[in-house]
Formats: sequence, structure tokens, C-alpha cells
Amino acid sequence: MHLFSKSILIFSVFFTISEAVIHDLPSYFPRCKRYDPKLSECLLKATETVKPYLIKGVPELGVPAIEPYVIPEITLEQGTQALNFKALLKNVVVKGLGSYKFSQFDFDVPNLQWFCKATIDNMDLTGDYTVTGKILLAPIEGKGKFVAGIANSNITAYQKVEYVKKRGKDYVRPVNTTTTIEVGGPKVHLDGLFDGNEELNRVTNTVINDNVNELFEDLKPVIQQIITNIVEQWLFRALEDNVPFDKLYPVD
Ligand SMILES: *[C@@H]1O[C@H](CO)[C@@H](O)[C@H](O)[C@H]1NC(C)=O
Ligand SMILES: *[C@@H]1O[C@H](CO)[C@@H](O)[C@H](O)[C@H]1NC(C)=O
Repeated sequence: MHLFSKSILIFSVFFTISEAVIHDLPSYFPRCKRYDPKLSECLLKATETVKPYLIKGVPELGVPAIEPYVIPEITLEQGTQALNFKALLKNVVVKGLGSYKFSQFDFDVPNLQWFCKATIDNMDLTGDYTVTGKILLAPIEGKGKFVAGIANSNITAYQKVEYVKKRGKDYVRPVNTTTTIEVGGPKVHLDGLFDGNEELNRVTNTVINDNVNELFEDLKPVIQQIITNIVEQWLFRALEDNVPFDKLYPVD
């Protein structure tokens, strides 16, 4: 029996975004020439070169640190037979994104699209939660701190862009950003369920962890939205929107 076939998921994620004020790549960013036969190799290497800057954040690009990565608020509303709850997560701190490792970073220049594959190991999420509803037919109710972990994950990211003219120059902007994630070894622990009733708290956490793979499967759209937001924040708001295409990917 498949419990998760009727899925309604509503969520919203709020990010803090600041304005970037640059017109070229920072000097420490690698430049990959768009007609270089080894473009993919250059881009793969670039993902490693820029890692320390992504980890700390780059204020002049208006992008926040990814290590840790802080999401002020995530609203979840899930309506399946197995999961029927509303939850509000606040001050979510994600650790481990900086351990990303790309295995593919292909730029199909004529069609203006990218295909990427990456892995991230040992991600941790902590934060404050409020939840009310049902989880695997048992009521769930409470507020407190949550801890979640993902031992390993495979991520793909796709982006298609189109040209836009601005200030007399060609820029690109995304028309489609799609990401997928497969997670291995997920874990969750909630503190403070049922007003701190220890027995109910323990039983509920056991139910959650006995079914944690299915739960993460249902929460995948949310995780994918978070990754899509990070990709768009970096690729689009920081780079594509500010730096002309000729400077992002020089012809020669
Ligand atoms: C975006 O791209 C993905 C992957 O190629 C595709 O499956 C999806 O249909 C596209 N979405 C839109 C709105 O074009
Ligand atoms: C990630 O991909 C590798 C190689 O294809 C596979 O062995 C592994 O099981 C995948 N991990 C997850 C969490 O899907």
C-alpha cells in the first residue's frame, strides 16, 4: 500500500536578500572561456576555487555565507494520509553545505543551459519548531527545538537562462531552475512535544525515525526548494543579474 499518493504540500521559505553592487566577477573568481573545449573541467575546478568564498559569504556580491546557512523561516503544510500537519520552523541553521563536491558541471553554451551533479555529506539542520497535526495517524503537537541530519545526499541542478539587454549589454536571467535531491541516512529529533511529556515525546520520535525515509521523501519538495533558492541566489541574484554575460564567460 502506498500511503503517500495524495500529497498536498504548501510551503514558503523566507530568505534575507541584499543588493549586490558589482559589474564584473571579483578578481579571485576563476574565469572560464565559453568556447574552451575543457569548459566543464574549468567549471568543476571553479566550484572548488570559490568554495572558501561561498563558505564565508561575499558581501560585495550580496550573498550570505553557506556555512552555516541560515533560513529565518520555513512554513510547512502537509496533507497526505500519512502526514497531515502544519509546522513553522524558525532560525533554521544548516551546517555542511560547504562540504559540497561537484562531479559534473556542464554548460551547453548554444542552448544556454547547465547540468550539474554534486554530493553533500553530513548535513545538519537545527532550529525552533511549532507543529500541530497528525503523523502516521498519531497526533503530533508541540514546540521546541529540532535537530535533523542527512548522512549523504546526491543533488542535481539544472538551469536554463535567456538573454536580456540591460544598460546596452547582454545579461542572462534564469527561465528554469530545477534541482533534485536524494538523501541517505536521514535522522530527526524533536524536543518539547506534548508540553514536554517525556513518554509521548519518546514514542513520537521513535515513530518518526522508524519511518524517516518516507517522511523525508514527502518533505523532498521543500528541501529541493531550499536548494533551488540557494542556486538562484548565487547564480542569478549575485552573478547573472550583475555581471554581463561576456564577463561571466569570456569569448577569448
Ligand atoms: C524545467 O526543466 C526541467 C528539466 O529539464 C523540466 O523537466 C521542466 O519541465 C522544466 N519546467 C518548465 C516550467 O519549463
Ligand atoms: C548517490 O549516488 C551514488 C552513485 O550513483 C549511489 O551509490 C548512492 O547510493 C547515492 N546516494 C543516495 C543517497 O541516493
